Amino acid sequence: MGTYDNLSACSVRRASRKDLNEIQGIELKSFNYPYSKLMFLTLLVMFPELFLVVVCDNKVVGYVTGAITKEGYCHLFSIAVDPSYRGKGLGGKLLRAFEEVCLSKKVKKVILEVSVINEVALNLYKKHGYRVVKTIPNYYPDSDAYLMEKDLNS
Ligand SMILES: CC(C)(COP(=O)(O)OP(=O)(O)OC[C@H]1O[C@@H](n2cnc3c(N)ncnc32)[C@H](O)[C@@H]1OP(=O)(O)O)[C@@H](O)C(=O)NCCC(=O)NCCS
Repeated sequence: MGTYDNLSACSVRRASRKDLNEIQGIELKSFNYPYSKLMFLTLLVMFPELFLVVVCDNKVVGYVTGAITKEGYCHLFSIAVDPSYRGKGLGGKLLRAFEEVCLSKKVKKVILEVSVINEVALNLYKKHGYRVVKTIPNYYPDSDAYLMEKDLNS
């Protein structure tokens, strides 16, 4: 659980290139198989509206990134919060902000993949109304994934 207690000092905004070092720092602390900085830069250039950060006291402490697919869904690629700031609602805040951007683009569905062994993320998504559609074998180097989706109308 986190040690940070002043959530009123935290807000969500679009990511910028200047944030990429901090985003990459969070990434390295959060995943065994992190995205590269080049991958983040590519996502920022291609889908700037869907690349959001949460900032507390001028420090970037979490991000969410995704794309709009050719089928017209929002595809959430990755979300992470700095370990010292977890368990305070910031993951949920980022997820809701991401969904709001999708709705503002008239997109009605969010899809994502999550490792079947990532209980914290599964809890986060289930709490926010996502359901498991199917299992994708060997999606990650070390585990299967669930494909999850949320209908934003409901
Ligand atoms: C997943 C992650 C983004 C959640 O961020 P967070 O800021 O801690 O999330 P929140 O504080 O908004 O918590 C929302 C819900 O997640 C679940 N959750 C959070 N921390 C948890 C923990 N330690 N154990 C179990 N469930 C937990 C709970 O359901 C929680 O709701 P609750 O507080 O009402 O119980 C964060 O843990 C993280 O960065 N993990 C590493 C990266 C990762 O796995 N990303 C997901 C990739 S698909």
